[in-house]
Amino acid sequence: MRIAAGVLFLVLASLTFSGDADAFGEKRRRPKPVEFGNIVIKNYSEKANIAPVMFNHWLHRSKYTCRLCHIDIGFAMKAGETGITEKDNLAGMYCGACHNGKIAFGPDDPRAAGKSRNSCERCHSVGRKVEFTGDFAEFRKPLPRERFGNEIDWMKAEEQKIITLTDQIEGISIKRNKLKNPDKFEINARIAGMPDIIFSHEKHTVWNGCELCHPDLFGVRKGGTEYSMEDIFNGKFCGACHGKVAFPNEDCQRCHSKPVF
Ligand code: HEC
Ligand code: HEC
Ligand code: HEC
Ligand code: HEC
Ligand code: HEC
Ligand code: HEC
Repeated sequence: MRIAAGVLFLVLASLTFSGDADAFGEKRRRPKPVEFGNIVIKNYSEKANIAPVMFNHWLHRSKYTCRLCHIDIGFAMKAGETGITEKDNLAGMYCGACHNGKIAFGPDDPRAAGKSRNSCERCHSVGRKVEFTGDFAEFRKPLPRERFGNEIDWMKAEEQKIITLTDQIEGISIKRNKLKNPDKFEINARIAGMPDIIFSHEKHTVWNGCELCHPDLFGVRKGGTEYSMEDIFNGKFCGACHGKVAFPNEDCQRCHSKPVF
């Protein structure tokens, strides 16, 4: 009986919360798996008569940790916030930390331009018919699947070593000793019948190090940070990543996973 009540609650709750704050009252189109985590960067390009830039997370996160890009290279965790310029890139910062003709294709390296044959267009691709080299469908074939987002189980893909992540780049990253992961703990959902959340530091730090969460999103005292599901739907706390790049908030049971009985 208690199990049934818990399940019923989940169903009712998912009817009430529609997964994202701006979707209330109207069901938003779900992004295609290939689009989930794509970012358009357009602070300066249109004014300079060049197409805006599309950056995809799926290809980049299959090779690098979030930490490398968002801490060592310094990309903001909000679309458009970094204020990248072409001059920065040519100086080896931001995209240019890798897109320098060595680690990945650079801006003036026609041989490395890929199928599109134009190395500028390969980044400045919004609104243009650019043929990318990376094929999402092919890439995803051997990977374990999930229900939402890119529909890839990124955790399993990494655990099974189907993908391997680079966490440091010479000349950019500064080596530090690893910190120990605190043990797994439960976060109380504070509503009877709603399954509690099991939070694993071990699983998170593979991608995020410590710095992506502490101290900006969470304190380091269990139960010290106060937030609600509504905050998460609004892109805060867990929602700073879940819903944008990590699996989305529609997947209630993947977080609320502690059995209720
Ligand atoms: C690795 C990706 C990448 C490549 C390759 C690239 N760009 Fe950019 N470029 C960017 C990003 C990101 C921005 C910032 C876009 C914005 O905010 O509008 C940018 C901005 C620009 C701007 C806007 C004004 C400015 O000074 O920042 C111009 C002009 C530009 N790029 C020209 C080029 C040209 C010409 C090429 C080819 C020779 C090129 N880019 C190749 C990523 C790239
Ligand atoms: C190769 C570099 C790279 C990697 C790896 C990477 N990101 Fe990003 N991320 C970016 C860039 C670039 C932006 C856009 C920044 C801008 O527009 O100023 C971004 C933006 C974001 C945003 C803001 C999205 C939005 O809609 O506002 C989030 C959240 C994010 N990344 C999370 C992650 C997470 C989580 C991971 C790891 C699973 C990750 N990123 C891996 C480069 C990266
Ligand atoms: C940490 C290294 C790294 C950073 C930072 C990085 N990239 Fe990449 N990127 C790669 C690698 C590696 C590839 C795949 C190899 C290649 O195509 O040369 C790639 C591929 C791409 C592709 C090719 C997609 C295709 O399938 O043809 C685009 C477009 C791209 N990156 C855009 C960007 C933009 C825009 C930025 C900055 C906002 C950026 N990247 C930052 C490493 C990086
Ligand atoms: C994905 C986000 C995330 C990452 C990455 C992360 N943490 Fe945490 N950490 C949390 C959350 C959430 C809490 C609980 C905070 C609260 O309840 O207010 C927490 C709590 C803690 C606590 C208190 C634990 C306790 O039992 O009281 C410590 C210590 C801590 N983190 C250290 C680390 C260290 C060290 C790393 C890197 C190895 C790290 N964290 C990476 C999210 C994260
Ligand atoms: C800094 C970004 C970030 C934040 C903040 C974050 N996560 Fe995650 N989380 C990830 C990434 C990346 C994954 C890997 C799976 C994916 O990308 O879809 C993940 C995976 C998970 C998983 C699956 C792991 C497993 O045990 O199977 C759970 C559950 C989860 N997160 C819950 C949470 C909760 C609860 C919070 C808030 C207390 C939170 N996350 C905050 C980035 C984040
Ligand atoms: C990324 C992980 C994650 C996902 C996905 C998630 N939740 Fe939560 N949820 C949490 C965390 C963490 C809390 C605890 C916040 C707190 O302290 O109350 C929470 C709390 C709640 C609460 C307690 C009341 C409140 O507002 O805080 C309800 C109800 C809830 N979630 C419903 C849902 C439903 C329904 C879904 C799916 C549509 C969902 N959650 C998806 C992490 C998640």
